[in-house]
Amino acid sequence: MRSKLEWRQAKVVEIETPAPDIRLVTFAVEALTSGFDPGSHTNIKVVINGAPAIRTYTVIPSRPGTLAIAVKLHPNSRGGSAYVWTLKIGDATEVTEPENRFELSWRASQYLLIAGGVGVTPIYGMAKALAARGQPVRMIYGAKNVASMAFAPELKGLLGERLATYSQDDGESFDLAAEFATLPEDGEVYICGPLGLLEAAKTAWRAAGRPASRLRYEVFGDNGRFAEQPFEVDVAGFGTTVSVRADQTMLEALMEAGVPMIFDCRRGECGLCAVKIVSCSSELDHRDVFFSQEERRDDPRICACVSRARGGRLVIDNGYVTEAILPATSAATLQAG
Ligand code: FES
Repeated sequence: MRSKLEWRQAKVVEIETPAPDIRLVTFAVEALTSGFDPGSHTNIKVVINGAPAIRTYTVIPSRPGTLAIAVKLHPNSRGGSAYVWTLKIGDATEVTEPENRFELSWRASQYLLIAGGVGVTPIYGMAKALAARGQPVRMIYGAKNVASMAFAPELKGLLGERLATYSQDDGESFDLAAEFATLPEDGEVYICGPLGLLEAAKTAWRAAGRPASRLRYEVFGDNGRFAEQPFEVDVAGFGTTVSVRADQTMLEALMEAGVPMIFDCRRGECGLCAVKIVSCSSELDHRDVFFSQEERRDDPRICACVSRARGGRLVIDNGYVTEAILPATSAATLQAG
């Protein structure tokens, strides 16, 4: 868990467009202490509607002293991608030293990488690292169409016939169960893509009787069932109604309002920001990969960093958060206001 973000000055030195709606931005970063492993992320300070905010992106392999991020201009963006798309050469911001929660284990005898759309960003680095070490690896890359497959030429050069691409517009699809069946017992899968793909993979993996620890995944934060809408949050015992704008997360809005929150990944993966749901006047849009469907049903909680309500009013109880942080401050980040 993160104890403190280490911010570094960063200046845009290169902008490329590996796919029509994906921008690859490279920053020269001051005092970057080390390289990074595939799957690592960096935080970047952005400005949304004139207000400062932080967004987290996967880092793409780049030359020493630089960090590169590939960001899709999302129609439902909460503002982070729109900000990155405004950056020009020479613009300055701050980024953090990369950290990794989506690590390759290097223990498998065979790897299957699966990327859905812009989920290719961590998978690309993994493919590069595995190919460089001569590891047995196959990659599946699905996207809307061939033109939208960022880094496909590079991946083809690396993997050759071991790369299989699937274009949704051409009616192509892949069979997860059949792919998993080709893996040896200690084979591992690394997957990044939309929530639906992850859920399907988890289901197929379980059905195949495979160990959960050998399916590793992450999801990109702003892909929910519904477009972002503003909603209100009442925090039990807090006495204030907090408004969550469409372009901010519930976690950001709660912290701005001074509600004590603990969090770490900001990507719906660690579960630290989860709060209890008391009631919701609209539908919930769960965007985390931390809770299973059963857990959501039996003990309704919501990850404030990515999940939200589809408008209306949500009543939450974060009382246990305060209790949890009183005895000792864990390494997790604690912020209020
Ligand atoms: S901070 Fe990790 S799930 Fe929200």
